[in-house]
Order: sequence, then C-alpha cells, then structure tokens
Amino acid sequence: MASTDSEFVKAASLSELQAEGRKLVNRNGQAIALFYHEGAVHAVDNRCPHMGFPLTQGTVDEGVLTCHWHHARFELSCGDTFDPFADDVPTYPVEVRDGDVYVRPTPIRDAPPEEHWTARLRVGLEENLRLVLAKSVIGLDDAGALAEKPFRIGVEFGTDYRAAGWGPGLTILAAMQNVLPALREDDRRRALYTGLRHVASDCAGEPPKFDQPSFAVRDVGAARLKEWFRENVEVRDRDGAERTLRTAIETLPQEAVAEIVFSAATDHRYLDAGHTFDFANKAFETLDHVGFECADQVLPSLVAGLTTATRSEELSSWRQPVDLAAILETTYGDLPDYVADGEGETWTEPDGFVDTLLEDDPHAVVDALVEAVRHGATTEQLAAAVAHAAVVRVAQFSTANEFSDWNTVHHTFTYANAVHRATRRTDAWELYRGVFDGATSVYLDRFLNTPPAQIPAGDTDADPDACLSALLDAFDEEGEVDTTGRLVADYLAAGGDVAALQATLGEALLREDANFHTLQSLEAGFSQLALTDDPARRRTVLVAVARYMSAHFPTRREAEQTFRIADRLHRGEKIHEA
Ligand code: FES
Repeated sequence: MASTDSEFVKAASLSELQAEGRKLVNRNGQAIALFYHEGAVHAVDNRCPHMGFPLTQGTVDEGVLTCHWHHARFELSCGDTFDPFADDVPTYPVEVRDGDVYVRPTPIRDAPPEEHWTARLRVGLEENLRLVLAKSVIGLDDAGALAEKPFRIGVEFGTDYRAAGWGPGLTILAAMQNVLPALREDDRRRALYTGLRHVASDCAGEPPKFDQPSFAVRDVGAARLKEWFRENVEVRDRDGAERTLRTAIETLPQEAVAEIVFSAATDHRYLDAGHTFDFANKAFETLDHVGFECADQVLPSLVAGLTTATRSEELSSWRQPVDLAAILETTYGDLPDYVADGEGETWTEPDGFVDTLLEDDPHAVVDALVEAVRHGATTEQLAAAVAHAAVVRVAQFSTANEFSDWNTVHHTFTYANAVHRATRRTDAWELYRGVFDGATSVYLDRFLNTPPAQIPAGDTDADPDACLSALLDAFDEEGEVDTTGRLVADYLAAGGDVAALQATLGEALLREDANFHTLQSLEAGFSQLALTDDPARRRTVLVAVARYMSAHFPTRREAEQTFRIADRLHRGEKIHEA
C-alpha cells in the first residue's frame, strides 16, 4: 500500500469512486466509508456510531448521510448528527492527488480525547442518551480521566437540573463511586455509567433548580443557624431553609453543617421511609469524594426532600396498634438526661444485644437502647448494632412474603446504614433519634422474618472458586434466593477471599438492569462490611446482599447491551459488517 507521507495512505482511484459514488476501504485496521458527493470526497467511519450498521449501505442525499438501520442522519462533511441518539460519526481527512484519493486513517477530532469525551458526557446527560454516556465513560477512562471527572460532572449536572433536588439518581451515582475500589477494572466503567444514566434519567424533562442566596450576615453562629434551619424545615419553608443552609455552609466547618442537616433529618420519624436521611448521608459522602468546597453545590439539593418528606408519625403503622411515635417522643424528651447519665462511662455491646433489637416487643427495644445510652453507649456503637439488626432482617427475609416486601426490609437497612455512617461524621446527640427510629423500623419489619430464613453456616469443604462460578450462574436464574445465600456462606466458610466475592457480586449487579434499591443494597452491604471485623456479622451482611440481589435477578440486561455496543464501537470492532 503506497502512502504519500507518514499519515496519509492511498485509498482509492478518484475515477472509480466517482463512478461508484461510495467505497469501503480498510486502512490501518479502520473500516472507512468513502463517498463522492456534490463534487467532493468525504471519508467517515463505516460503523454507524449508533449501533455499528455499515454506513456504505446508507443513503446520501443533499449533503446528508442516512443510516438504514434506525435512520440516523449525519451531515456528511463533518459527521455531526441530526439525531443525537446516534452520536456524531468520526470523519477522516482526505486529499486528492494525481487522480487518487488519500485518507489519513486517524479521525478528525475537534479536541483532545479528554476534552472531547467530557463534552460528549455533558451532551449525554442533557439529552438522557445512555449510549453517549457509555461511550463517554469509556473514552474518559481511556484518556486517563476515570473516575473523579465523570463523577464530578454527574454531581454538578444532577444538582443543577432537578428542581425536586437530590433523588435516586444522585444516590446511585454516589453509591457507585463508593464501591469503585471493590470492583474489577471493567466494572468500574459500568458502575459510573450506571450512576450517570440514572442521574440523566432523573433529570430528563424536569425543571432546573434555581438557587436561593445565603444571608449577607456572616456571624450568626452554629447554634442559631441550626435552630433557624430546623424551624424552616419544620414548617416546610424551602426558601428559608435553603438560605439558612447556604449561610451555614459558607460560615461553619463541615462537622457543624453535618450536625445541622442530620438534626433536621431526625426531627421527625423515619422521613420518607428512610430515604431522606439516606440521601443526606449520600450527599455528604459525595463531598468526601469531591471536597467540602463543593458543599454549596451539593447540600442545598437536600432541602426539597427535607421540607416535603412524609413524617412517619403521620402513618397509621407508627400509631396503631402501638403508638410507637408517642413512645419515641417521650423518650426523646428525656434523651439529654440519659446522655448526661452516661457521661464518663464506657459501654460495650453485651451478648444478645442485637437479638433484643429483633424482639417482638417495642418497649424492650426502647428500654435496651435507653439503658445503653445511660451507660455511655455512643451513637456510633448503637447505630452499628441497629444496622446489623436491619441486615439480619434482610438475611432472614422469608420468600413466602409478597415480593414488594423486600422494599420494606431494604428501606430499614439502608436507613440504618446511613445513620451508622452519619454517626462517624458528627457526634450530635440528635443522632440517637436516628438510632431509635431505625430500631423501631426493625421492630415493624418483624413479620417479614416469619418464618425466618436460616443464615447458613457454610461448608468448610466447599471449593471457593466453584462457589463463585455457581453464584454467578445462580444469579442467572429465578428462585435461587436461598441458593445464593448458601453459596456465599460456603465460600466464606471455605476460606474464600472476601475481596474476590465482592468483585463477583459487583459483576453480577452491574450486568443487570438493577433497580435503585438493588444498587443501594450492594453499596450499603459493602459499607457495613467495611465497618465490622466480626466474621459472623460479615457473613450475614454478604448473605443478605446476595439474597436481595438474587430476588431481583435476572433482568433484561438492556443497559448492559448498550454498554457492550459502546465498548465494541470504541475499540473499533465491527458489529454489523460482514
Ligand atoms: S441508526 Fe445506524 S445503527 Fe442505528
């Protein structure tokens, strides 16, 4: 193959191209579609950027190339698409010399790869295009810009373009960013793609968020800002709450801001089935990734949820047949005294404490927690115990329940995990209320463990590798909830590496169209796993995660199909060409 210099290669005779109108050439491993149209030569990637259909089989008319597969149209000279779902098609420089067409088989890029894929990522978010999002994540990874950059862009977009504020999309994105280190390399791309497409979907068609400014005054102080914020949330005044929160963000340290937000999030019982507190915790975890200097971008998005949430004391289940809300209100009135009683004492969780939390007696549960507080138990210690009780509810969930009941134990678990995480951020006494609320929800979920599924001890003679392989197979089948729990227990009993199990669970999760709760479930499980060294508790956590996932799998795997197409297109593979 002759070439005029190091870049351009001879591709075709001009007269032949003029006669045929189009020609497919392969140069340097690239399938290039040449067109002669309206007196000019054009070269584009032969693979339609949508799903790879060969564009030499398309139609050219009045400067427009139309793909015959899903009818995406491209401006022939620059490759830009009329139909954003398909993405732009790469073009190549051409020259005509001495009756021959030469092409440089390196696509024309309007910008360096990182800049190009960053711009495409923004388009994917704006137009809710999962294919473009998948390509952008892959492109940014190849450009060395995974994972902070797409995460940061997703957070900015999600907080700017959803008047309803922080929602499931941003929660998923933060959860996926949290679990990245536990995933295999390829699955890290899938995780970010998953988070970003949920953010885009959450924002699609939504009005944007317009900000309220902070107050001009700078020296209000933490105590008064806390009271102002809680009062505004109490009366559901979104604007007043946002102005107060922004002032706090600009004038107070991170721990004080966390105290303000988490106090307001526990002024009423178990807001929105726990989601409101969970969202608040995820917003702070997001700041762990992007820095507290982004707090004014991130935290105000919580205000809408805080001011509109359903307060569980308004629900009959928290009032009848036992007035749980009243029991808690009375307890919370005395909490400062209980905390004072425990000052200077060191509490150690007694044997059977979690079993007490799982009892069928709300008074026994509250009494146990009160006694613990009076003997110096910290919010973090009690939150850990309640989170584990919530994990047990998932691990022992009876498959005889209605399918939707999985949501109920899931809500309690993710709420309790969020409270546990929040107690590590601030030691505000108000977080005891999150602990008690979580324990009350564990109590309310007790019938979902009837009869309780057994948490298997595991087979020490099992083959760990075979367990992992069988686990992936079991996720591929319906009705294998107990099988997956047993395989996890066998794997651990046989000495299997926990990190490899986590990576396998991540793989199983990310190949599916996992819903919001299932994505949350894995992340909350990994979060709890990181907070305990106790082998039995770690086993229960991982059994719970596997059982929850198995109950919701398999799915259609549509998102994975899109990701694979994007990956193959990015790697230059042929998809539909002979
Ligand atoms: S429009 Fe070309 S493959 Fe879909």
